Amino acid sequence: MRVALPTSRATEVETPLLAIPVFSGDDGRGADFDAANAATGGLLARIADEEGFKAEPGKSLLVHAAGGAAQRYLLLGAGSRAELTAKELRGLAATACDEANGRHLTGCALVVPEGLAAEAAVHFATLGAVLASYRYHKYLTRDVEPTTCEELLVVVPGADVAALEAAVTRAARAGEAVNLARDLVNGPPREITPTRLAAVAEEIAEAEGLELRIFDESAIAEQKMNLLAAVGAGSDEPPRFIHMTYRPAGADEHTPSVALVGKGITFDAGGYNIKPTGSMEDMKMDMAGAAAVLGAMKAVAAYAPSYVVHGIVPTCENLVSGGAYKPGDVFCAKNGKSVEIMNTDAEGRLVLADALSYASSELKADRIIDLATLTGACMVALGPHTAGLMGNDDAFRQKVADAADRAGEDVWPLPLTKKLKGMLKSPIADMKNIGERWGGALTAGIFLSEFVGEQTWAHLDIAGPAYTEKPEPSVAKGGTGFGVLTLLELLDGEV
Ligand code: BES
Ligand code: MN
Ligand code: ZN
Repeated sequence: MRVALPTSRATEVETPLLAIPVFSGDDGRGADFDAANAATGGLLARIADEEGFKAEPGKSLLVHAAGGAAQRYLLLGAGSRAELTAKELRGLAATACDEANGRHLTGCALVVPEGLAAEAAVHFATLGAVLASYRYHKYLTRDVEPTTCEELLVVVPGADVAALEAAVTRAARAGEAVNLARDLVNGPPREITPTRLAAVAEEIAEAEGLELRIFDESAIAEQKMNLLAAVGAGSDEPPRFIHMTYRPAGADEHTPSVALVGKGITFDAGGYNIKPTGSMEDMKMDMAGAAAVLGAMKAVAAYAPSYVVHGIVPTCENLVSGGAYKPGDVFCAKNGKSVEIMNTDAEGRLVLADALSYASSELKADRIIDLATLTGACMVALGPHTAGLMGNDDAFRQKVADAADRAGEDVWPLPLTKKLKGMLKSPIADMKNIGERWGGALTAGIFLSEFVGEQTWAHLDIAGPAYTEKPEPSVAKGGTGFGVLTLLELLDGEV
């Protein structure tokens, strides 16, 4: 997918399809509509009226028209003028690309309405195009609709186009990072193993000039990451611990650092607390946190933060076998705390515990954020599209919430209610790995908090938004790549 910024006026852009956001409400359909309408001798308004086109979000109308440089016009419902922000251009650009593809057109153009911040508009339009171009048809031998739309022209009237080129480049990098995360989540578990995630990390590190350490089973044992080893023990696929580092030029030991930690369970069968049919089918997605971290590390150089960024992925499978860990087992975590296993399906918090200990005690990262498809309870609380945000520092939690808001990803705070800590008491160990029935997302967060020490930390439970059954214009079915854009927005500022 190419994105380019033409310098001509909208009505003079030569394109197979010109998409125009159209407003509802009493102030008219907008200046861009009026200009195109004039260029077509009033045809657009006549057809919009005849077809009863309501310019509401999600509605669109295609009009073939002679006159003007475009072969077709796509009227995109944009709702009320006052409510439209640059973020909405992501969906509008994606719809334009989808319509162009559906008609086997080679490209399309999108007009940016006047009054939106040009740089943000270009950012979201580019993202929309790159995300809409995503397909996972590696294993399909039939029904492969070729994607024909390979270019989006973003028309920004009166803008200094040269100054906006950098926004296109960076948004394209961000979009490709999301698409990488989607590929990793959509890949079958037989293919996307811990070893494979390590190989992907190696490719990213090589291409982006990042440092990389991969810990194999013996290095994991040496690091005393006994919880990661325990979860991985039931599988023939060996576990891995991935540590990538972005270091800005001139960094020394005083340079502040951020650690991004992603849960990397490449298949979660539940272990001996095995999941029933209906709950296991999609569990290849249990590495979506890892995918988000790998995606963010792929694009981090384009954002060039002034601090060190660690990308950390504890990864293994959670299966059953003669060597698997059992309910009742006790293991000593990397930070020395003993954990009684009361449910082998609460494995994510175990592998994260060792990763968080590593980030806080070995790396002494100033800020730690983890992403994990951690609990079904979080989906019960917040629904399928919203991530739960927890943490031990109000200011950092707010930074993460603000970054998610800028990224257009939905997160909502959940409390780490102190009173619930008692639910994790074990008679024979420092704690057990599950609480009681109620507040499952919170007790998981409280469990994690025991492993971050004094460090500033935030936790995103992405069990809901990481995977979708209902496609949207810029989000295909399956892995969504959720979290990549929030992480990149976070890394775009001071943290
Ligand atoms: N990977 C699951 C959580 C999950 C569920 C993610 C549905 C995405 C969709 C996690 O490892 C798990 O099994 N959690 C248990 C915790 C319970 C045993 C305390 C759960 O949510 O049921
Ligand atoms: Mn589980
Ligand atoms: Zn899991």
